[in-house]
Formats: sequence, C-alpha cells, structure tokens
Amino acid sequence: MRTDINGTTCLCGLIGNPVEHTLSPIIHNTLSKELERNIVYVPFLVEKEGLEEAIRGAYQLNILGMNVTVPYKNQVMESLIEVQEEAAKIGAVNTLVRTRGGYKGYNTDADGLYRAMISDSIVIKDNTIIVLGAGGASKAVVYLCIREGAKKVYLLNRTLENAKKIADSVNDIFHTRRVTPMILEDYPRIIEDNCLCIQATSVGLYPNIDQAVIEDLTFYKKIKTGIDIIYKPAKTKFMELVEKSGGNTYNGLKMLLYQGISAYELWNGLKVDEKISLLVYEQLKKELGIGG
Ligand code: ATR
Repeated sequence: MRTDINGTTCLCGLIGNPVEHTLSPIIHNTLSKELERNIVYVPFLVEKEGLEEAIRGAYQLNILGMNVTVPYKNQVMESLIEVQEEAAKIGAVNTLVRTRGGYKGYNTDADGLYRAMISDSIVIKDNTIIVLGAGGASKAVVYLCIREGAKKVYLLNRTLENAKKIADSVNDIFHTRRVTPMILEDYPRIIEDNCLCIQATSVGLYPNIDQAVIEDLTFYKKIKTGIDIIYKPAKTKFMELVEKSGGNTYNGLKMLLYQGISAYELWNGLKVDEKISLLVYEQLKKELGIGG
C-alpha cells in the first residue's frame, strides 16, 4: 500500500482516449518526488460524449491541472473559461491550468519542442526547415519554426489541402509567406542543402517501424539534422535514413519530456532546473528500455 498519499495530496491527470500507453505519469510523478510536492498524476480515459462533463467534474474535485491528448486537444477548448493566445493560434490545447471559475488552456507542445532543441543545441533561426506531415502535431511545429525566425519552412504532406491549411494559418498569424505547402512527391523542388527536417507524421511509429514518408536517399542528402517527434522506436526509419546520408538525428522523447515539464511549471508556478529535467529524461529512457 502507498503510504505517501494523505489528506493534503493534490491530483493532476491526463485526459485522452486511449491513455494506457502514456509516459506522462512517469514525468510528473518523478518531478513531484524530486521536488517533494504532494501531487499524484494519473491517466483518465474519457469518452468523447463525456469530455465536457469530465472537465467540469475535474474542477469540482479540485484537480489542480490536466494534460489533454489525442483526440481532444481541439474539442477541449469549448469547456474552458480561457485559452492562452498562443494555444488559440495553434488551435490545440494540451494543458489545463486551474484558475478561478474553471480551467485555462495552454499549449506546451511548441515550447516543449523548443526546449528540447535548445537542450540539443539545434538552431531554428535563419535555418531552412522541412516539416513532414500536416496532422495534429504539425501546426505547433510550423508555428514554432516561424515564431523563432526560420528563414523558410517547406511543409510537405501526402494531402496538399491539409498542408495548405496549416501554411495559410501560420503565414497569416505572422504576416509572412515563409511557409510553403507542398505534396511529398515535390521534394526535388527543395534546392537548399543543410536543412533541418522535422518528421511530424505518425508514419514509422511502433509497430510499423519499417516505414518512412519519404524513402528516397536523394531527399535525405539535403538534411543536416533530423528530428522525429516519434520516440517509439527510439530510432525510426526516418532517423536511419538521415544518418545514412551523414546527418545527425534526435527522436521525440525530449519534446515529450519538456512539454510535460512546461505543464508542471504552469501548475505549480515554478521553474524546473535542467539537472532535474535530465533526471526525468533518464527515467523515461529507462521505462522505454533505451540505454545510454
Ligand atoms: P493526427 O496527427 O492528426 O492524429 P495522424 O494519423 O497521426 O493524424 O496523421 C498525421 C500526419 O501523418 C498527416 O500529415 C497524414 O497525412 P494526410 O494529411 O495526407 O492524411 C500523415 N500520414 C499518415 N499516414 C501516412 C502515410 N501512410 N503516408 C504519408 N503520410 C501519412
């Protein structure tokens, strides 16, 4: 029996469907242990019809904060009393912070990726960036790239329409034309070398580990650094192809780590120092069976 839960224990959690494979409890419960905070973090499986009621119930139960994952990052906004400007622009909320009268929605995915990139000394500013995919995760990625001063973003997707929507929206937000939507097959039109490429599709995710959206090695010759937002497997086919062409690669585990850390900071009004962040990172790697 756990003896560390008592009358002053606070609850945080994750809302989504499915939730059983989440690593977020590892992030938040390790942080609470290290920072000696009496908070427990648990997953909540919520059905679509019950989302609004779940948020209202969570508030009444005095739940301090929530993460929100697939498929509710958009739908959840209807149940909030306020949405942070950046989350509204990205069109997705992944963190709810308790305020007077309800929850305020934030998006920590973009900053999670940003902090992960800073931690690995990956530069956005003045870089040419290729983003693969225009699904749920992609808009936060493209938004971040333009916000942080990318010279140009090529947004490649199987369905041009979906890439156009994100490109138009981000170009409008920043009054720019730096985002160019393209279909995947048009990659030979990219003339720049030494690009940063961010893989933001679900292709290559376990168990379909033998897939990458583009397999032609001539594409990978343009890439100096490749980031896959997938972290399972730890080395995706995309990463293998980048490395085969001489580039450096990173998976999505640090993005996951820092989006969680940013949420934890919002709930608790504190800043987690880098030493503790890296300790949580080691814990995540251990959980996934990744050495190093
Ligand atoms: P979401 O992230 O919105 O939940 P997803 O299924 O993870 O959805 O798909 C995200 C991205 O992966 C999309 O860009 C999708 O391309 P489309 O917009 O054309 O649907 C891309 N994607 C999924 N499967 C793909 C495949 N087999 N080949 C190429 N792209 C694929």
